[in-house]
Amino acid sequence: MLASAWVTEQEIYAAVGDEGFGRLVAAFYRQIPEDDVLGPIYPRDDLAGAEERLRNFLIFRFGGPERYLEERGHPRLRMRHAPFPVDQVARDRWMELMTRALEEVSFPAEAREMLTAYFDSTATAMMNRP
Ligand code: HEM
Repeated sequence: MLASAWVTEQEIYAAVGDEGFGRLVAAFYRQIPEDDVLGPIYPRDDLAGAEERLRNFLIFRFGGPERYLEERGHPRLRMRHAPFPVDQVARDRWMELMTRALEEVSFPAEAREMLTAYFDSTATAMMNRP
């Protein structure tokens, strides 16, 4: 990745803040309980906790405070996803719900494009079965 692109990724937090990432993950998780593919995979009794973990992770990853690291330690995302069956269908559905959430929150175009590219490749990296 280009150094300049990395710098810009780190500026997303300054552009959207806690509030923006809060709205994004709320829009994402709102769709989970009713989703036929992802609903059964996520912890039904701790969706609020899951929402907070993703929010804090994204805030840390895109240039904000490191609450995620303080609470959860090193992300090791692939390892943390190992207990969940992430196949192509789950990966694509995750991306679909996140794309819808990104449309809903109306971030600046540059931030939305960078986040979309990040989610697209990271969601693929989380796959742990065909
Ligand atoms: C861009 C892609 C993704 C990112 C950045 C991401 C990020 C995260 C993070 C930060 C956590 C919390 C880890 C922890 O501290 O315990 C998490 C949990 C989880 N992820 Fe993902 N994930 C991605 C893709 C996926 C996909 C494709 C699935 C498909 C099933 C998935 C399913 C889950 C589930 C079920 C959990 C457990 C919920 C919880 O209790 O936190 N993730 N993810």
